[in-house]
Amino acid sequence: MHFLTSIIRISLLAAITIPSTLAAPTPSSLQTRAETYVGYLVSTFSDVTPAVQFHLSKGNDAGSYTFLNKGQPVLKSTVGTKGVRDIFLAHDGARTKYYMIATDLDINAAGFSWDAATRTGSRGIVVWSSTDLVSWSASTLRTVENANAGMVWAPSAVWDDATSQFYVFWSSRLYASSDSKHTGTATLDRIRYTTTKDFVTFATAKDYVALADTPLIDQEFQYLGKTGNFARFLKNETVNQVYVETTTGGLFGKWTRTPGYVRPESPREGPASFADNVTPGLYHLLLDDYTQYVPYQSTDPAKSGTWAASSYPNFPQGLKHGSVTPLTQKEYNAVAARYPA
Ligand SMILES: *[C@@H]1O[C@H](CO)[C@@H](O)[C@H](O)[C@H]1NC(C)=O
Repeated sequence: MHFLTSIIRISLLAAITIPSTLAAPTPSSLQTRAETYVGYLVSTFSDVTPAVQFHLSKGNDAGSYTFLNKGQPVLKSTVGTKGVRDIFLAHDGARTKYYMIATDLDINAAGFSWDAATRTGSRGIVVWSSTDLVSWSASTLRTVENANAGMVWAPSAVWDDATSQFYVFWSSRLYASSDSKHTGTATLDRIRYTTTKDFVTFATAKDYVALADTPLIDQEFQYLGKTGNFARFLKNETVNQVYVETTTGGLFGKWTRTPGYVRPESPREGPASFADNVTPGLYHLLLDDYTQYVPYQSTDPAKSGTWAASSYPNFPQGLKHGSVTPLTQKEYNAVAARYPA
């Protein structure tokens, strides 16, 4: 999300960890049902055009895509700042409800500043909904944060079959409740979460990962094929690198850090991870180098040094922080027909 070197910020609040009483839910994720996937849909944006854009894989090739809708955006925000970044496509387990969610932020707006964007930025996410991936509602701005939050960045969501709801995550920094204008010093950026069944009403936002010494943004999960088994990718904003943690105990289980970072290069941000549709156990990871996504892959996501650059000579240029969704044949045909290249 950041283009600028991080400013060292001083934490007002102690680090908060998830109380053990919250350890119960073990969301089972989007990819637990036996589906045959025939391709990939990348939902993304670009710096010059902060609106939702689709790239569809050529067949089931994770490295080769066509820019749908003749390169024009498929969804534009008419709410909030009217610009969106950090696009995430969520859907329920039955693939009957789709939600496109995004950061409400237009960095090209007149008078834009990162300082203002993190003190009095949007406390909502932009949401579009659909039942078929091609007919979409108008954009709506849904407040997910409390009044003491400075912004809401990079939303993502995980569907939980057991409770028929989404867990929604994003990053925020928080101001003291006495600092109603947010002019003082905030906490470090941390990962926050809520739950929702419909992206209309949301539970009260809470901390998910908050560290005393490290500002964190851009979290994304990868389901690892077995109930409760996930990887999560997080950006350390001090070094502008992404690290990985894994669990076998669900989203609120015990997470184990893989030492170091998934890649030695900096900057890297905006992780988008997806399982390969063809090769079992192969995972892909897109990391934004502040210009565009660079594709990596691993067959052992939790192991240090296993994320290698993918040799994809035709990988599209200019993709920014987004998400990659495996598609069924019905979904693939629908988007290809509705948004021809
Ligand atoms: C983030 O990077 C800083 C600087 O190297 C380091 O001190 C800190 O421990 C790192 N935090 C995490 C969670 O990796």
